[in-house]
Parts: sequence; structure tokens; C-alpha cells
Amino acid sequence: MCGITGYVGSRQVAPILVEALGYLEYRGYDSAGIAVLHDNKIDISRSIGKVSSLKFLVQQKKVEGQIGLGHTRWATHGQPSEKNAHPHSDCHGKIVVVHNGIIDGHMELKKVLENEGHIFSSQTDSEVLAHLIEKYYDGDLSVAVGKVLKNILGSYSLGVMHVDHPGLLVVARHQSPLLVGCGDNENFISSDIRAILSQTRRIIFLEDQEMASLTAKDIHIETIDGKKIDRKPHFVEESLEQSEKNGYDHFMLKEIFEQPTAIKRTLESRVFEDKKSGLLSVDMGFDEEEIKNIKNIVIVSCGTSWHAGLIARRYIEKLCKIPVSVEYAAEFRYNEPLIDRKTLVIGISQSGETADTLAAIREAKKYGSRIIALCNVVGSSLSREADRTIYTYAGPEIGVASTKAFTCQLTLLYLLALDLAYKNKQMDGDEVSKCIMKIQGITASIEKSLSTENLDKIKHISCKYSQSRNFLYLGRGSGFAIALEGALKLKEISYIHAEGYHAGEMKHGPIALIDKNMPVVVLALKGRRYDKILANIAEIKARDGKVIAIATEGDDAIVELTDEVIYVPDVDRFMTPLVAVIPLQLLSYYIAFQRNCDVDQPRNLAKSVTVE
Ligand code: AGP
Repeated sequence: MCGITGYVGSRQVAPILVEALGYLEYRGYDSAGIAVLHDNKIDISRSIGKVSSLKFLVQQKKVEGQIGLGHTRWATHGQPSEKNAHPHSDCHGKIVVVHNGIIDGHMELKKVLENEGHIFSSQTDSEVLAHLIEKYYDGDLSVAVGKVLKNILGSYSLGVMHVDHPGLLVVARHQSPLLVGCGDNENFISSDIRAILSQTRRIIFLEDQEMASLTAKDIHIETIDGKKIDRKPHFVEESLEQSEKNGYDHFMLKEIFEQPTAIKRTLESRVFEDKKSGLLSVDMGFDEEEIKNIKNIVIVSCGTSWHAGLIARRYIEKLCKIPVSVEYAAEFRYNEPLIDRKTLVIGISQSGETADTLAAIREAKKYGSRIIALCNVVGSSLSREADRTIYTYAGPEIGVASTKAFTCQLTLLYLLALDLAYKNKQMDGDEVSKCIMKIQGITASIEKSLSTENLDKIKHISCKYSQSRNFLYLGRGSGFAIALEGALKLKEISYIHAEGYHAGEMKHGPIALIDKNMPVVVLALKGRRYDKILANIAEIKARDGKVIAIATEGDDAIVELTDEVIYVPDVDRFMTPLVAVIPLQLLSYYIAFQRNCDVDQPRNLAKSVTVE
């Protein structure tokens, strides 16, 4: 995904835009740029790489002006380069656009425009918008933008300026988030609230197919069809320091350590205590009528959120006896799914902006299924399109590798299973209360897993294996989902190839990979499958593989059978994923750190994949 921002007011705009882009950099960091309108001229500054390069360029140029647009890019069409960086302009440099999203059929549109004499300077789909606005412009910028948006398909959060309208920003949104920040005689736009929170807390969330015309004093909102909209700003409570590193080397490490607090916050949002009986209960907003009609549940998500879905399936099937399928959103959206009004579809997404997940729930709606979103971003697209949203309270997750959002997702999904189980009479109030107490205790167990002793051991292991070229992660039951998650964490931030596999599947192929250069991380927690896991460990050791075991505290026997052991507290079987994932998050972090990788902004990745 990309990030866009803009400002119109009386202050110098360049530093405001560059500061905002710094907060948007986690969204995309292939290149960045700003455009400033001053003295009837638009000055464009663009650079590849980090926002810091752009900041240096802008300072050198001493860019002046009180209105401008900014952009951080995650390349979709056209490689990362200065000429493909936004902002893009029309043929005469009178119009500039910044865009997050994808314009469908942009090659055909480009051909038509080139045949009409338009000259393109980039390989991007976004530049087509600048030339289309030029084509339709007839003195009213807002009308021209509306005409263009009615004649294209695709997704956009869009900012436009024209030299003939020195005090005007025209912006629009469809399937890519865009916020308007209301200041005193100044106004802002941004893809993400964090980029403007230091300027204003009065925020207007634009909805799909809406556009706004901003001057320093006024904000006019309408649909792209011209229907006026009167929308009051929200006052946003979130604090900026929640998003800062607070002394940690990386956001990811901070977010790993924030997990106990984040889980506590998430629990408090949904758990209630009956003062008389002392029983704990949970309310996820289901009513008995709604639950009576649920025949099956489908979970749609991507990446780490899909791993959360695998674990949720175990919670729901074992506690509620309702069949659950967990689908890759990218597949589900094209699969003509066998669902109907009796299917509950749960979309899990930290960002709430993942294109595949949004498309999957839109597909599900066509079948009359009820849609619940499990999301970490208030006001995100997913939360707007679902019938109901259950929010994790992880706080802003800036590191591209998801950590605290994942454990908060598991927390909420467990509570959801308890609520469903209680309301469809699979559990009574006393059983539910006991289960809630177990998950309330998990934060202490996670804190234990984050102990200095554990960290030192994990740092030591990271040093030992940081130059390995491949890793295998093995598990059974919920350990298999955690193996997948651990492998994803490692590969996405350290660039080491890592594969999560079901331990029982080893002998059906992967065992051929085992030799002395293959570290194998094994989820070897006490439980029904423990003996089977020990057998898998023996198979690996018999072929000189190196075994790093994630084991249950007190299990001394495993030391003799493995090369490394990282202990986690002995917790209830449903709680093990929440503690077992912690050492894997830390292992991936410290290996990536050892390898001098860009932990928070790994190459080729974006925090939320808002394009297909
Ligand atoms: C997780 O560490 C990855 N960054 C990625 O797999 C992510 O989980 C996936 O893109 C889904 O994102 P979402 O939860 O915001 O929908």
C-alpha cells in the first residue's frame, strides 16, 4: 500500500508534509515525494528510498508554499524509481496527483490518452489520473475530478492540486482509506490518522466514492455523483506516543513487549463480572436468535491473520461444536463458496484494509451471509463493511511483522468461542467464567516468556543460527499453526527461507531436507501429541538435523533429545498458542537484527496489502 497526505493553510507546508510522510513510511517505503503550489507554480520533489532522503532534498531546495501533497510509495506498477515516485503531473505541470490504490485497465486508458497526444513520464497507473483530469478539466477542478472518478474502475485515495486553484485541494476515496483533519484555518488529509494526529484530533472519515474540496477555511464533502454530504468530525482519543518507539530499537520489539498490556486491554473491552455471583462473562454481541441460525462458520483472512483463523477454528469447533473452515481470502473471493444465510463469515484483519480480505467479505455478502470483522483499526474499510466489528485493542501496530495484533486476535477469538458456546448451550456460566480466568492469567505467563533469562537464551540461539540459509518449523495441533506463524515471522524480516510444516507430514517429503545445516524449530509442548513430537525430533536427530525445541517449563527430559530448548510456562491447552508464539517472535527479531535487516520495514513488504 502507499500513503498520501496533504495540507492547506497559512504555515510552510513542506516540513508538515515531510513529517507526516515519516508517520506513513511504514505503509510503503520504495520512494517518496511532495508537490508544493506557490506563486502559480507547482514544485515537485521526489526521491527513492526512505523519507529521510526526501527530507534532505526538500531542505536543500528550500521549498516554499502553504499548500501541498505528499506520498510514500509501495510499488505496484513500475519499479521503485524517481520517475515512478509520486506526485505525478499532467502534460503541462499544471495538475498534480498523489494516489494510493490501483486503476483497473490503466494500460488501455493510457493508450487512448497517448493517441490524444498526452505525454507520459512514468510506468505507473496513477499518472493516468493526472492526464484524465487534464482531459476533463474545464475550469472547475472538483467537477473534473468527479467526472474522471465516475469513468474509471479501481481503488483510490487521491489528492489533486491545480495551479489555477492555489488554495484548493480536491481529494477522493474508494476502497483505500482517506481521512480529513480539521484544523483552525488549516486542513489536512492523510491515509492514516497517525500522520496528522500531532496537528489535529478532529477527523472526518471519508467513505467509498466520496470526495472533498478543502481550502484553509472550508471543507465540502460530496459523493462523486455530486450529492452533498454533511459530516461532522470525530474527536479522536488515541495518543501519538502509543505509536512511538519508547526507547526500543524497533517498533517490532516494542510491540512484542506490549503484548501483555494489549491483551489485558482487549480482555477488559469484552469481559464483565457479575458483582453478586462473582462470575465472569463475555459479550461479543451475539444474540441467541442469531446463533440459532448459524449452521457453519467461514473465516477469511491473509498471512498472520490467517494463522489466527486456524487457531480460532480449534476454539470454535471444540467449544461450540460448530463446523469452521478457514479460507485464504485470495482464494475464497474467486471460489463460488458453498455458503448462505446460515453461514457466519468472520473477516480477520489487523489493518482492516487488506484488499483480498475486503473482496472476500464482499463476495460473502452476495450469499446473504452475516459478516463479522475482527479488526485493529477503528474506522477501517473492513469495519465499515461488516455487519458488526469486534476490535482488538492492540494499539497502533507499526512493525510490518504482526505480533501484538496476532495475540490480541487469538484473545478475542477465544472469547468469541466462549460467547458462542454459552449462547448455544455448549457451556454453562460457571465453565465460561473459569475459562475467562485462564485467559486473564495468560498475560503473566507471557511476561514470564519475555524474561531476561529467556531473552538472553534466544539472543544466543539467534547468533548461532543467524547465518543459516533455511529453517523448518514443525508442530502438531495448534502447534502447527504456530509453526506456520513462526516461519512467516522469520522469512519476512530476516529474508531466510523458512517453512512451517505439520510434524506428522515430515516423513512424506520434507525429511529429505534434513542435514546438519538445517535448524528445525519444533513446537514440543506437553500435550496429547507430545510423544509423537518426540518421535519426530528423533527422526531429525537421526539425520544430524539441529533441533530448537519450544518446550513446557519443567520438561527436563527434552534437553537430552535436542540442541536448544526455549521454555514457556505450562498453561491450559487452549492458551498454549499465546505463549508458544512469543519465543518465535523474539527468535525472528534477533536473527533479523543480527543480519542487519530493516526489521520494521522489510524489503518488498507493506504493513497492509491494499492491492490485489
Ligand atoms: C504478518 O506479519 C504479515 N505482515 C502479513 O502476513 C499480514 O498478516 C497480512 O498481510 C494480513 O494483514 P491484515 O491482518 O492487516 O489483513
